[in-house]
Amino acid sequence: MKAIVYYNYGSAEIMKLAEVAEPEISKNGDIKVLIHASSVNPVDWKIRRGMLKMLSGKKFPKIPGADFSGVVIESASSKFAVGDQVFGMVKAVDGGCSAEKIVVSDKIVAPKPENIDFIQAGVIPLAGLTALQALKNIASIETGDNVLINGCTGGVGTFAVKIAKAFDARVTGICSNRNIEYSMKLGCNEIVDYTTQNVYTNEKFDIIFDTIGNLKYNKAKKMLKSKGVYISSGINAGKLITSSIRRKCKLVIVKPDKKGLLFLKNLVEQNKLIPEIQEVQPLYQLVTAHQISEEGKVNGKIAVRIR
Ligand SMILES: NC(=O)c1ccc[n+]([C@@H]2O[C@H](COP(=O)([O-])OP(=O)(O)OC[C@H]3O[C@@H](n4cnc5c(N)ncnc54)[C@H](OP(=O)(O)O)[C@@H]3O)[C@@H](O)[C@H]2O)c1
Repeated sequence: MKAIVYYNYGSAEIMKLAEVAEPEISKNGDIKVLIHASSVNPVDWKIRRGMLKMLSGKKFPKIPGADFSGVVIESASSKFAVGDQVFGMVKAVDGGCSAEKIVVSDKIVAPKPENIDFIQAGVIPLAGLTALQALKNIASIETGDNVLINGCTGGVGTFAVKIAKAFDARVTGICSNRNIEYSMKLGCNEIVDYTTQNVYTNEKFDIIFDTIGNLKYNKAKKMLKSKGVYISSGINAGKLITSSIRRKCKLVIVKPDKKGLLFLKNLVEQNKLIPEIQEVQPLYQLVTAHQISEEGKVNGKIAVRIR
């Protein structure tokens, strides 16, 4: 099968389209998926650059990509049959989705939402589950909450805005001035333009979701209600230390999550969570797709078309 591979850590150009051995089903519960679409997440190029070596190790070649949507072509599972349309994510350090086929456990896969195509479904899992696990599982979002989302225009941020709105939250989005109109269209009630305004205001929030991870916790905590929580998906040494000593400072580390995928599928099918896609790149242009993501200015997601 065709896949994008790389043999050492480095810049985007080290990735090449190659012919590699097809993965095989090895245990009960596995399914083989013919991948139709995937997406780029910043963690893909962080791994490729060697920024997460402690987790990604020295084993090569690596196939990047954590998101997939596609069709089951072989099944050792009682839950999925050949021909089923599915979507899901694998652990980013395992990768394997920038390829024509993948073998995954049925425990991390869900049926694809019926009202969207494979390209749309393929951008949802990692970023959508990050936003869901942050807002619902960790911050326990409730109807009517006042929510601040930093980086509301990115992959995680766009899902976070729509998920919060699905809970009838009041959402303030932090974005740059080029994205004010886009953020309003996403559904934000209020916008703070980080290029011209102080992002630390007197308003009080139930949840501050810092998708970028660049808000200073000591300043952000003054914007929390008494039971409020600050949660970040942008993880660095400072945030790790603060979250270990401050009860209201939390980190989300996304995990494959079938239940979460089913929740997202339900929102999609109610037309409350149609994914935002900036552009679609074919698999053979993954180098370009990574380079665009590395610039840090993507609105929504970059989808990768595999079939
Ligand atoms: N912990 C986890 O499990 C987990 C999971 C997913 C993602 N992440 C991490 O979370 C971060 C965000 O991921 P993502 O997929 O959303 O990234 P992304 O899609 O690449 O984010 C790009 C967006 O961020 C906005 N942005 C850039 N700098 C900003 C700033 N200073 N303030 C506010 N917005 C800013 C950009 O808009 P402008 O250029 O207009 O500002 C752009 O729309 C990444 O570091 C990623 O690795 C972690």
